[in-house]
Amino acid sequence: MYHVKPMSIEDLEFAVQITDTMDWGMIKEDFEFMMHLEPEGCFTLFSNSERIGIATTISFGKIGWFGNFIVNEAHRGKGAGSLLVKHSIKYLTARNVETIGLYAYMDKIPFYERLGFRYDSDFMVLSGKGLSSPIKTGFREVKEKEIKTIIEFDHSCFGASRKKILKPILLKKNNLCYASFEDGQLTGYAAVKVYKGMADLGPLICKYGRSDMAIAILKTVLNRLKGFEISLCAPKKESELLDFLTKSGFHERFRVARMFYGSSLIRDCIYVAESLERG
Ligand SMILES: CC(C)(COP(=O)(O)OP(=O)(O)OC[C@H]1O[C@@H](n2cnc3c(N)ncnc32)[C@H](O)[C@@H]1OP(=O)(O)O)[C@@H](O)C(=O)NCCC(=O)NCCS
Repeated sequence: MYHVKPMSIEDLEFAVQITDTMDWGMIKEDFEFMMHLEPEGCFTLFSNSERIGIATTISFGKIGWFGNFIVNEAHRGKGAGSLLVKHSIKYLTARNVETIGLYAYMDKIPFYERLGFRYDSDFMVLSGKGLSSPIKTGFREVKEKEIKTIIEFDHSCFGASRKKILKPILLKKNNLCYASFEDGQLTGYAAVKVYKGMADLGPLICKYGRSDMAIAILKTVLNRLKGFEISLCAPKKESELLDFLTKSGFHERFRVARMFYGSSLIRDCIYVAESLERG
């Protein structure tokens, strides 16, 4: 009765409409972008000929991510969602992905555990505004010719190349990217996706144990975003970074659990996630 097809342009209106029921703020272009990044890995779930759900995946070599997962309320609790998760796992493993990550609502942890995912750690989704206290820091905006260095640094921290997502983010006009260099070596960077009046901050990646550096980069980018509504997702264990954000007027919107299927390849270098649907 239920079956899964690769998402097509005709499904985009449905994708926006169903995700609006959860106020995820997704627009057609977001799904077009996901389909561009992973043409065969974005899915629409059907009950006979009726569209009833969606999910997206992305593969970065050995690491993949699962997100934008939702089933029409009338069809929940009948196994349709599980079918879509299993289909996505099959798709990613066929592409040689060894580790699949996702961010789960806390009440969905047992659901994903039943499907073979294991809890890793808590993340917090926060909102706040840009700062307006110009500070002098040693960080500077990344130049186009340095994008390759950022992608290589990110690869060494994340455990797989995220070139296919980082390149479009870093090249897009109005987006921001700041980096720190010590003795000529890149030690951390933050990217910001900038929209009309709004900004999604992330990824913010620094070497393990360098939360001081992560906070300093964060300060720099927040001071470039005066007047913007900013959203970001940070690990709960980064207490100093979260303290700084709280003191800067940020508030917690909700929590999610990072979960993994397969071995955990990702290192402790993520101070702010890229996004909920791509890691
Ligand atoms: C999460 C979501 C996609 C799951 O979809 P679903 O179609 O309800 O998923 P399933 O039917 O496969 O599983 C849901 C539950 O029903 C149970 N179930 C599955 N088939 C069943 C059946 N035939 N009879 C009775 N129960 C069944 C499952 O065991 C599962 O229980 P659990 O949550 O205690 O593990 C859906 O709840 C949803 O859209 N939620 C809103 C968006 C959301 O939260 N997305 C996830 C973001 S992390």
